[in-house]
Amino acid sequence: MYQLTGKRILLGVTGGIAAYKAAILLRQLRQHGAEVRVVMTHNACEFITPLTMQALSGKLVHTKLLDLETESAMSHIELARWPDLVLIAPSSANFIARYSNGFAEDLLSTLCLATSSPVMLAPAMNQQMWQNPVTQENLKKLRTRGIIIIGPAKGDQACGENGLGRMLEPEEVLTLAAKSFETNILSGSRLLITAGPTREAIDPVRYISNHSSGRMGYAVAMAGIEAGAEVSLISGPVNLSAPSRAKLINVISTAEMHFAVMQEVSSTDIFISTAAVADYSLQNIAYKKIKKSSDTYELSLKKNPDILAEVAALDSPPFTVGFAAETENLELNAQAKLRSKRLDMIAANQVGQGLGFDSEMNALTVFWGTGKKQMQKASKTRLARILITLIADRYNEKNINKTH
Ligand code: PMT
Repeated sequence: MYQLTGKRILLGVTGGIAAYKAAILLRQLRQHGAEVRVVMTHNACEFITPLTMQALSGKLVHTKLLDLETESAMSHIELARWPDLVLIAPSSANFIARYSNGFAEDLLSTLCLATSSPVMLAPAMNQQMWQNPVTQENLKKLRTRGIIIIGPAKGDQACGENGLGRMLEPEEVLTLAAKSFETNILSGSRLLITAGPTREAIDPVRYISNHSSGRMGYAVAMAGIEAGAEVSLISGPVNLSAPSRAKLINVISTAEMHFAVMQEVSSTDIFISTAAVADYSLQNIAYKKIKKSSDTYELSLKKNPDILAEVAALDSPPFTVGFAAETENLELNAQAKLRSKRLDMIAANQVGQGLGFDSEMNALTVFWGTGKKQMQKASKTRLARILITLIADRYNEKNINKTH
């Protein structure tokens, strides 16, 4: 089964007869749950129309670097930050030459330079062009830089020749694109993740809560699954579908989340506390709806258990990762939480300005021991994948040190 639900794929199409395969690929990517934006080079538009790709993607197709209309909808830098994967299929010999030499003369090559997301190329060209040492040198350069090259296949070519150079079939590209998300860096590990908000009842119809959508936690859960871990996801009330391979435990209040975490934690290797847990709950919940009477109304609150701190304080705690949502002094506050809660790692996000709570994008600064890693603004899916890699590195390092 393909794990592409919610993945953002920027499909680049360059000029070549195989461009027609990009339309089939686009359809299949979408059928498997990916969100796709298409960028076409000038030459690609000679083989297949942007209108076809627009109809299939349901999104404006990007063709020009300097285009007022598309730039105002999404600037090329925003577009470079947007994807979880840049997939260029077909990728012509000309594009490979320009990309390997760092050209930025059109939208697609500029995006390739500006993105920090993984890039995958499915070459398609005449077999002589493929064999040409210049093309092979260009490909070698790209591979060295971490660009994934898939194919080409051998067979009859549109030009009448036979040999290596055919673009892989859309189904094969789809499989390899989906596989590229599977890292297996945490295979055999058990992850416990909390996500979303908690709600504290005031009376039967009202509650205190926050703006957490659960997106960050669900993205971490998905990244954990792709890393090969067994994932339990304890979720507050959100409007998201949990990854099918996760064990989902739904909760509403902090007390319920606390109970669920404590039930699960003994069989956990890594605990990631992404949830925005309410710090306080009502001293006394009214059992009937509170009537509007006086001009002011005071609620008496009591402190909730700090679930994360409690897990980190267990006799043999899992590798414990907290999140910190801050509106000011990000580094200072996050470092203070890392130390006071005795965590292995903390991922801090500055909230506001379209980041953090209830947004598609985020930016994280991760702290551990004396280490620090800054992750620029990107989709929560992309950040979750980088975070999971960082967690796997530190977790494995800690385990190695334990056994020596
Ligand atoms: O859900 P989204 O819309 O995608 O938004 C993501 C997010 C902004 C909620 C997420 O990235 C995030 O920052 N989550 C933590 C929010 C938070 O409550 O931070 P905090 O600084 O108040 O808490 C610090 C840590 O202690 C957190 O890991 C929290 O889960 C944990 N905690 C807090 C209070 C409490 N009673 N128990 C806890 O376990």
